[in-house]
Amino acid sequence: MQSQREKLAKPFAQVWTEADYRASAPAKLIVCGEHAVVYGQPAIAVALSDIRARSALSCGPRGSGPQIIAHDLQTVWNRETAADNPLLQLVERTLEQLEVAERDLEISFSSEIPIASGMGSGAAIATALVRVLAAYAGRELRAGEISAMVYASEQRFHGTPSGIDNTVVAYEQPIWYQRPPAQPDGTRPAPSIESLQISAPFSILIGDTGIRSATHRPVGAVRERWQKQPERYNRLFDQIGAISAQIRSCLASGDHKALGALLDANQKLLGQIGVSLPKLNQLVRAARNAGALGAKLSGAGWGGVMFALVTPESRDAVRQALLDAGAARVLETLVGVPS
Ligand code: MEV
Repeated sequence: MQSQREKLAKPFAQVWTEADYRASAPAKLIVCGEHAVVYGQPAIAVALSDIRARSALSCGPRGSGPQIIAHDLQTVWNRETAADNPLLQLVERTLEQLEVAERDLEISFSSEIPIASGMGSGAAIATALVRVLAAYAGRELRAGEISAMVYASEQRFHGTPSGIDNTVVAYEQPIWYQRPPAQPDGTRPAPSIESLQISAPFSILIGDTGIRSATHRPVGAVRERWQKQPERYNRLFDQIGAISAQIRSCLASGDHKALGALLDANQKLLGQIGVSLPKLNQLVRAARNAGALGAKLSGAGWGGVMFALVTPESRDAVRQALLDAGAARVLETLVGVPS
């Protein structure tokens, strides 16, 4: 039987090639509406299909139960060492739901998505795990089913997720997402999810601040402020919701100039609700000064990433400006190309 050390020493690429089952899931980017979406406003998110989390499954030693091998963290989680680990619990629950009897499994994962960066690393890893278990069980799960399983797990990481992260990652397409606020009895109505029309693909550069920030911290801070000043915050969330509606029209008409101005307006409101940071502001300013049509932070904020809308003419200058302003790295992607 292989020791834990031996399991972790194997490069993930080799584990992936040798595995019996493989699955993956994309990173996500929130175009507009983050935070406000927790309070019932609409938001828009896209999947970044070329940046992925991957999961590989092989049968494990008899009696071992399910083991998760987190290659990037050089850790193994199993029932003995980490019974309350949220990903292990997700695996156990999924095996139960899929009615899998044989549970001596080695499930490895590795992710290209930087953790706590606003790019949905947690949702992507969880989705890749559910997908690989479904493949093992010989079951075709619909995107909505996978998303619901991952949502339950996301609730463990931060108490009040809107559900946008697990949804866009599971559906793997641009979405318009809105979930009515919780009812007085604590229940939350089902979200409305629409696949989004993007008539003209647009290029963005994603600038990583290199500052890692767990989603639940800014989400919790915004909640505290909202509880203290509900009218002020509801007004800000309404304004963000109105911007999301206008951005949806821009995406349908292909008006990138108007889109840029709306991203700037969304960034200003995110600053007002207190989730930007000097480093994020610096990157946003540098991108705009170098010719970006618009720029804003993406995700929960207090670190993580921002993105800038660029044209072929401004792309190189904006990339250089982001690096000069201290971006830890810059990624480029085209949004709206049919997959
Ligand atoms: C996090 O990716 C997006 C937030 O709006 C939180 C959520 O929607 O659950 C900040």
